[in-house]
Amino acid sequence: MSDKWQALKTYHATAEATRILDLFAADPARAQRFSARAGEMLFDYSKTTMDDRARALLIDLARVSGVAEKRAAMFGGEKINATEGRAVLHVALRAPEGASILVDGHDVMPEVRATRARMAGFANAVREGRFVGQGGRITDVVNIGIGGSDLGPAMATLALAPYHDGPRVHYVSNVDGAHIHDTLAGLNPETTLVIVASKTFTTVETMANADTARRWMATRVKTPASQFAAVSTAGEKTAAYGIDPERVFGFEDWVGGRYSMWGPIGLALMIAIGPAQFDAFLAGGRDMDERFVNEPLEQNMSVMLALVGIWHNQICGHATRAVLPYDQRLSRLPAFLQQLEMESNGKRVAIDGSDLTTHSGPVVWGEPGTNGQHAFYQLIHQGTRVVPCEFLIAREGHEPDLGHQHLLLVANCLAQSEALMRGRSLEEARAIMAQKGATGAELECQARHRVFPGNRPSTTLVYPKLTPFTLGQIIALYEHRVFVEGVILDLNSYDQWGVELGKELALALQPVLEGRQGTDGKDGSTAALVRYLRG
Ligand code: F6P
Repeated sequence: MSDKWQALKTYHATAEATRILDLFAADPARAQRFSARAGEMLFDYSKTTMDDRARALLIDLARVSGVAEKRAAMFGGEKINATEGRAVLHVALRAPEGASILVDGHDVMPEVRATRARMAGFANAVREGRFVGQGGRITDVVNIGIGGSDLGPAMATLALAPYHDGPRVHYVSNVDGAHIHDTLAGLNPETTLVIVASKTFTTVETMANADTARRWMATRVKTPASQFAAVSTAGEKTAAYGIDPERVFGFEDWVGGRYSMWGPIGLALMIAIGPAQFDAFLAGGRDMDERFVNEPLEQNMSVMLALVGIWHNQICGHATRAVLPYDQRLSRLPAFLQQLEMESNGKRVAIDGSDLTTHSGPVVWGEPGTNGQHAFYQLIHQGTRVVPCEFLIAREGHEPDLGHQHLLLVANCLAQSEALMRGRSLEEARAIMAQKGATGAELECQARHRVFPGNRPSTTLVYPKLTPFTLGQIIALYEHRVFVEGVILDLNSYDQWGVELGKELALALQPVLEGRQGTDGKDGSTAALVRYLRG
């Protein structure tokens, strides 16, 4: 354990028994003092065991880890992705008008703006019926991509459903043929536009689905390539695939896949909601960037979100974190964050190649409320492991005539964080059972089943309404959280070598499964599974 962690670990050992309710009792202003604002957005982290001393030590940790310096390096276009020798500049995709950002002495902004203008031109042509398929106006857009070329835009397209006024947009990612089969089943090839979204344009799943879509298109459309567009950093590969460069939207290798929805990878989203709403989404991200860069660490929502994460995972030892949006339209947010956080901070070595001295980022999982309440909340309330919970809730829904349901949603969200913190003691449980008429050993046993330990930490992010601007703020907030946690853990958040081995082995297994190669050299289990699956 390196020194920078020691003070926090030591303090935590002395404060381990802290009860959150006692912290509230001792400080009537705790809710205000342990929350951060970003415009109308409120991040409440008061229902955690973090106290003033812990927070001060966490902020020291951020300082000594060089968060401010590394933040400046990222925004300044330095090659902080050391293992790939790349800058990390997704923030350039939403940078303010007039900004100039240099990479290797070259201003990247003119190209960013030009590509966005081309995207908007194409999106408008599709939306207004000036770009047509063989059968006329485009009714459906199918985005084929996976990972960062799918999760972000798919999550946002669902989140912003009230703003859809373009053609229907569908997302296909899985190499399982069922996904593309079921998606294309109801569509007319003559009025469908296919977008192949792949940073590298080599991803096996995406290329297999693109080939399937092209064959499907060819059954009815004379020149299938004319109804294809591509989003990629690999211009020569999209050309080799026969896609007209006019419908190819490029980006640079300084945009990581999981950070790429702000640029051309967001094309399908832009077609769904229109360039103006897409701009509002970018403006939300930009707003959070400015706050992240300018606000002092202790008031900085992105920094505090990260420090709560470090507190729970590395200091308190809670290995997982539940993301619980009380917003049905954010139902893909947990999946998006799984990639964003786990592909970024799921590393075992520090930037210099030495072993990490702490655990890497947490396991992130979740489902929207209230559905999760009827599924896994049992474990969250009464299981033996503590799962820090991150609630998200809008002040206002998009359905004014269903305000009473929004109220129920809010009540449930607040009730869960309250129940997690408050719990129910054995005495309270005994009183409940006594009221029901239980006595003796029966009362005691039944009461024990009804105890909630409480003191389970949670945070709540409250936003006014799920608009494009708000969504932009939320996504940028989480991106910066990953950055800050990565800096504190001293790892490279922007590579993903851990996905490579499985890809290589899958390639090598193809001839084995086809029967062109034997199972020699395979372990006993893999060989037996191959034999079974070959039938
Ligand atoms: O396998 C992981 C990954 O490389 C992700 O990082 C990326 O978002 C995804 O695959 C898709 O890659 P591409 O956009 O190059 O098809």
